[in-house]
Amino acid sequence: MMVNLDDFRQAAQRVLPRFVYDYVAGGADDELCLQRNRSDLESMTLMPRSLRDTTAASTHIQVFGRTWSAPFGVAPVGLIDVVRPQGDKLAARAAGKAGLPYILSTASNSCLEEVRQATDGPCWMQLYVMQDRSMADTILARAREAGFEALVLTVDVPVGGYREKDLRHGFKLPFRPGPRVLLDMALHPNWLRRQAWAGAPQFVNLVPAGGAGSAQAQAALLSRTMDRALVWEDLNWLRSKWDGPVLIKGVLHPEDARLALHAGVDGLIVSNHGGRQLDVAPSSMAVLPSILDVVQSRLPVFVDSGFRRGSDVAKALALGAQGVFMGRPVAYGLAQGGEQGVAQVLDLVRQELLRAMILLGANRPETLADCLPVPMRG
Ligand code: FNR
Repeated sequence: MMVNLDDFRQAAQRVLPRFVYDYVAGGADDELCLQRNRSDLESMTLMPRSLRDTTAASTHIQVFGRTWSAPFGVAPVGLIDVVRPQGDKLAARAAGKAGLPYILSTASNSCLEEVRQATDGPCWMQLYVMQDRSMADTILARAREAGFEALVLTVDVPVGGYREKDLRHGFKLPFRPGPRVLLDMALHPNWLRRQAWAGAPQFVNLVPAGGAGSAQAQAALLSRTMDRALVWEDLNWLRSKWDGPVLIKGVLHPEDARLALHAGVDGLIVSNHGGRQLDVAPSSMAVLPSILDVVQSRLPVFVDSGFRRGSDVAKALALGAQGVFMGRPVAYGLAQGGEQGVAQVLDLVRQELLRAMILLGANRPETLADCLPVPMRG
C-alpha cells in the first residue's frame, strides 16, 4: 500500500535492478550531503497557530503569471529512461494533469518538443552548457520554439560528481554490464522487458545538428565537455538567446545570490543537486535563510534536495521559499507505476501539504511564515 513517498522508494528498490536504483538514489562520495539534506529538514519544526479559520485553505500559487495547484514541482532528472522508457513524457503528463510544473533535463531521453506537447502545465527547460556552446544555442532555439516558458541554468555540474555506487556497478557510458549486473537485470524481468522493447536510452537533445551519434558519443559529450569557463558575464549571452525568465539552479552561497541579482536573473533554485555533486556542500535548507536574506523578495527563490513530505515543503515555504522541486520521488513513482505512479506521488505530497497547512492554521502558502518557531525566552 502506498501511504507515503518512502513506500514508493521501497517499491522502486524492488522493481529496479540495483544499479538503476543506486543511480537514482545514490549521492556523491560518502553521501554526507545526501544525509544532511534529510537530517536538516527533519530537525526543523513548525509552530501551529490556533483557532484560525482554515475552511478555505488552498495550496495554489502564482509563478511567472501561471497558476500552480501547489507550491512544488518536478525537478530535472536526466537519463530517466533507465527507470522507465518514455519517462520524461510520462512524468510531464502527470505533472500537467496535476496542475504542477515540470522541468525537463538537457539529458532527457525524449525529444524536448514531444515533452512540451505532453503537458499544458508550466514547463521549463533545464540547460547544461557544454564546451561546444552551439549545442546550447540549438537547445535554446528549440526550447523557445517548442514553447518552454522558462530556462533553468544548472551551475553545480562543472564536472560530474564522484558517485561511487555507479563506479562499483560499472554504470557508466558506454555501458558494458558485467556478469553481476546482467544477473541483476535478468532478475527484474518486467524492467528488462520494457528496456528491451524500448532499446538503449539516447540523449536525444544532444545529437549534434545534422549528425546521428550513438548514446555513447552523446554521453561522452555530456560528461567530458562541460564548459568550465562559464561565468556570470555569460548570462548576457544566455539572455540574448532567451527572452523568457532565466533561473539559476545550484546556488548555495549568499554572495552568489547577490551576483545573480546583479546579473538580472529572474529566479533561483537553491540546490546541491540532491547530494550528487559536492559532498561537503551544506544542505539546501541550511543556506536558504541567508539567500532569502540577500534576495529580499526581489526574485522568487525555489529550493530542492531531500524533500519527501508535504510538511517538508511547508518548512521551506515558512522560511520564505516560493516553492520546492523534487527529483528522486518522481523517479520512484515512474518505477512503481509509470504516469499513474507519478500522479500518486504528486497527489500524496499535495494532500500532505494541505493537511500540514490546516494543522498549522495556514490558509495560504504565504501564511506559513507565521509558523516559524520563536526563540525561547528565559
Ligand atoms: C538529477 N538532477 C539533475 N539536475 C539537473 O539540473 N539536470 C539533470 O540532468 C539532473 N539529473 C539528475 C538525475 C538523477 C537520477 C537525479 C536523482 C537528480 C538533480 C535534480 O534536478 C534535483 O536537484 C535533485 O534530484 C533534488 O533532490 P531530490 O529531490 O532528488 O532529493
